[in-house]
Amino acid sequence: MLDVDPPEHDRLRGVVDEYFHPGNLKKLRPSIRSIADEQLDQALEDGADVEIISEVTAPITVLTISRLLGIPYEQWDVIQQWSGAMDVDVSEGGGALFSGTGEYFAGLLEKRRQEPGDDLLSVIADPEIPLSEKERVSFCILLFLAGHFTTTHAIGNALWALEEEGLYGALRDGEIERTSTFEEALRYRGPVPKVSGRRTTEEVELSGTVIPAGEQVTAWIGAANRDPRTFDNPDQFDPERMPNPHIAFGSGPHRCLGAPLAKLEGDIIFEAITDRVEAIDVEESELVPNMDPIGHGFTRLPMKLYTEE
Ligand code: HEM
Repeated sequence: MLDVDPPEHDRLRGVVDEYFHPGNLKKLRPSIRSIADEQLDQALEDGADVEIISEVTAPITVLTISRLLGIPYEQWDVIQQWSGAMDVDVSEGGGALFSGTGEYFAGLLEKRRQEPGDDLLSVIADPEIPLSEKERVSFCILLFLAGHFTTTHAIGNALWALEEEGLYGALRDGEIERTSTFEEALRYRGPVPKVSGRRTTEEVELSGTVIPAGEQVTAWIGAANRDPRTFDNPDQFDPERMPNPHIAFGSGPHRCLGAPLAKLEGDIIFEAITDRVEAIDVEESELVPNMDPIGHGFTRLPMKLYTEE
């Protein structure tokens, strides 16, 4: 889906588009909240020291997309293992860790064909939908991968920015809104700083520069999101910024399919954390930042989460 133009792109996107509408996703709120609460319980079991990425944001986003796809609960440990690939720079061979995923999803699709359910795998497996088997499997892999790497880091980045700017208390006390805070974190330190691998299909003029047809181009989302012609004080993290026309989810026909899901997860995770955590502190000396093109953020984000208990 990522690599094809309309109308072929519309055919593929049309298969799952409806599933990702905010109205349809709303019903997932209680189950995502219970996933978030469970992970926070585990993370806080041994005290305030929590590595946010591996103990909080990654497990929550992996379990959420797994539940949405309909991966059986008893196989979540396999999925957790794949998500361990999070510590690996995918641009340098991390993909090998996912080599078993094709076979795995082909097996699950076959099961759904025989016994359909109300999950996303059943939508993709439906024999009435004109997709080749390869397209069905690719769909599952794309949704699984795109569905957690990005959101894991988006939420990590947001917590980091809140602490850096001393704004966590304001979020907890409802002085700043969860929704606008997450939008601003996506602008300020989004997890997808660039989109590359695109080619111009015809000559285009962009801000006075002519780009010939067939040229390879990279869209620097991170730079656009700090463009002073669009944003006042672009280097300032301002959760009350309004309007906030960032393009962290891209733009045009390929604009992120999962944006409503990512926003829902961000909102629920903020809610679950602020309901029980009084204050947060980043362990600066142990931070491990990364420049991963689809998971820009922190490989390790150790924090202290202070609760009342
Ligand atoms: C904060 C989290 C996320 C960010 C910042 C993000 C960012 C992006 C961006 C920039 C694109 C456009 C890529 C391009 O033009 O080549 C994209 C596409 C896509 N995203 Fe996301 N994404 C996020 C979460 C998700 C989630 C949760 C899913 C769920 C499955 C998802 C699924 C997809 C898919 C399937 C596409 C391809 C859409 C198409 O080609 O029509 N993303 N995303």
